[in-house]
Amino acid sequence: MRVTLSVIKADVGSIGGHTKPSVEMLDAVRQQLADAIRSGVAIDGLVTHTGDDIAIILSHDKGPGNSQIHVDLAWQAFLAATRIAQEQGNYGAGQDLLVDAPSGNVRGAGPAVAEIEFDLLPSRRPAESFMVFAADKCAPGAYNLPLYLAFCDPMHNGGLLLSPRLHEGFTLTIIDMDAKEGDRIIKLDVPERIWDVCALLRDMDRFAIEAIHSRAFPDEQVVSVSATRLHNIAGRYTGKDDPVAIVRNQGIFPAPEELIEPYFIGHYVTGDARGSHTMPIMPVPINSAVSGAYCLPIVSCLGFSMDPQGRFASRSNDFFADASWDATRLHIQRKAIEIRRQGFFGVAMASQAEIAYTGLVDTLKKLDAEFVSR
Ligand code: 13P
Ligand code: MG
Ligand code: MG
Repeated sequence: MRVTLSVIKADVGSIGGHTKPSVEMLDAVRQQLADAIRSGVAIDGLVTHTGDDIAIILSHDKGPGNSQIHVDLAWQAFLAATRIAQEQGNYGAGQDLLVDAPSGNVRGAGPAVAEIEFDLLPSRRPAESFMVFAADKCAPGAYNLPLYLAFCDPMHNGGLLLSPRLHEGFTLTIIDMDAKEGDRIIKLDVPERIWDVCALLRDMDRFAIEAIHSRAFPDEQVVSVSATRLHNIAGRYTGKDDPVAIVRNQGIFPAPEELIEPYFIGHYVTGDARGSHTMPIMPVPINSAVSGAYCLPIVSCLGFSMDPQGRFASRSNDFFADASWDATRLHIQRKAIEIRRQGFFGVAMASQAEIAYTGLVDTLKKLDAEFVSR
């Protein structure tokens, strides 16, 4: 049986500023998903939030980019939640719905999408387990470092040495998120091309891993990331992209511990206040609000197992809810406080290219006119 896993998320309004959606908004999205499952459009699914972003996580047999899933289900569900956000006076109602009516699928219309289609339970993969990452107050490049470390660096993932299937390597699809006319991608095989991969991924505002495939089984996609930039869709700053990722694990793929180990670092990403600063990313339990200092970027991670019918949603493991992450959180909070001390100076604020979509550009233009040559 071919199954598609889809994660579609959007910020369509939140309480008390950009913190979290209301219970009523989440209920509206859950209602639409329940209807889709009842009518057979979707197999199974659940609705979560990470900060102010609502994620619909579902399985179905319609393939990636399907209009019944993207438009009839997800877009309509986000519209229903937007109407409630408007009634409740919530902040940013409908923020990520950037077009009037998406045609066919929601790619390029605002919501973030990660999707993987695969054969369910073939002999090479007797159990299907996977993780869903969702991040708020940051951009898709936030996953570059953790994915690089898990798929390319044995110092962080000893499984690359221990497992013969992992040892065959992976093909990384990296997208140039600045390309405005159509998608611009490059496929690089690792480990052979690791230094070329690094040369691109270090620029996380422009390049992001969009997909990773196994080289042992090239049809098997292990990672999908929602690698689109809202400012390229809207032409101005409308909120941060707040990316989601699906990562399949175990067997022919890395194990969960290998995939989440890099989140110990609390690496600095672009995001947080007005999407225009540099702060470390904090692992948090699912359904957390954004309450940390200066809109600290957050990331959640749920693990699931899929049964032979494609159902998974009623059983999950909330990886970052575990107390073993508390020491990491304290470490990351200290990193956050440290960089905040220098306010807007230098690297504490986002790069010049990134702030090109903010009001700072107008100020610089006016000042430019005041300059004189001496
Ligand atoms: P969101 O994209 O989560 O709405 O955050 C936007 C922002 O500007 C935070 O300060
Ligand atoms: Mg928001
Ligand atoms: Mg958000």
